[in-house]
Amino acid sequence: MKILSLNANIEVYENVEELSRADASLLEVAKKSLEDAYAPYSKFKVGAALRLKNGKIIIGSNQENAAFPVTLCAERVAIFAAASQYPNEAIEAIAITAKSGSHLVNKPVTPCGSCRQVIHESEYRFQHPIRVILHGETGEVYVLDSIKDILPLTFDAHFL
Ligand code: THU
Repeated sequence: MKILSLNANIEVYENVEELSRADASLLEVAKKSLEDAYAPYSKFKVGAALRLKNGKIIIGSNQENAAFPVTLCAERVAIFAAASQYPNEAIEAIAITAKSGSHLVNKPVTPCGSCRQVIHESEYRFQHPIRVILHGETGEVYVLDSIKDILPLTFDAHFL
């Protein structure tokens, strides 16, 4: 028996002001897009903004449903919209942020497992890593060079 250790490199910025201009502006778009979330049940509004290789910015926000499991996360709304409109464009970066109706989100919001899998599918499809920028309403920002950092031992098409 041996131990397999998994290591993730996450850049931690003290606040938004420390970010590069490109990361900060994508995050700014994500923050605006969360205002369009339809989240009457959780009151947890999530915004995602992604930048494609051709420079286009695509936004998404979470869209809830009275039949709760039908809800779609902000990240997947944005990624599927991008893939539908620009099927041949790799995603360069995605910024994700959230705002709660009940408390201050003071930690970077991290994508759910399903969204990590979908982000990874896009990395695999285009053979292009996606920069992931994560923020709450305030506080630190996490930046990853690839979703693989928070989705180790990923399942992808090479298994099939
Ligand atoms: N949500 C997202 O939009 N993205 C995530 O990665 C996690 C959760 C949404 C789904 C639901 O509308 C609300 O946040 C609470 O789970």
